[in-house]
Amino acid sequence: MLEKTLGQVKLDTNRVCLAMTKELKRFFKHKFPMTELKFIMEFSKLSEGMMMGVKADNVDVLVANLKGEIVALSNKCTHRGCLLSNGKLVGVIVQCPCHGAKFDLLTGEVKAGPAVKPLKKYEVVVEEGKIYLKM
Ligand code: FES
Repeated sequence: MLEKTLGQVKLDTNRVCLAMTKELKRFFKHKFPMTELKFIMEFSKLSEGMMMGVKADNVDVLVANLKGEIVALSNKCTHRGCLLSNGKLVGVIVQCPCHGAKFDLLTGEVKAGPAVKPLKKYEVVVEEGKIYLKM
């Protein structure tokens, strides 16, 4: 432990540095919120018109290829949580296998009840044949 005496005050430089580091981390986290890219799958495994359920950071995510556009949304139906990846995809509309709610995968909007809340949508990055989610 390195100590310096400044007048009457003794400074423990290790503690000062640690406190400054924590403060800087807090500052940057607040000013520049970090988004993490999570690899979820190879682009080649998701052909057009196909959807698939994956886990990313323990979150159920539905990934679909809508005419070349990759979208990612919550895989849990907002009605009672059934996995939408077990449902039916027609165009851009997925139908929940449990009670038939329909969601637009381009926006997450409910197109038919009994669900009333939209699906959470995730930002997708496709790079060098790999699909990533911004989380
Ligand atoms: S759980 Fe999806 S419609 Fe009920």
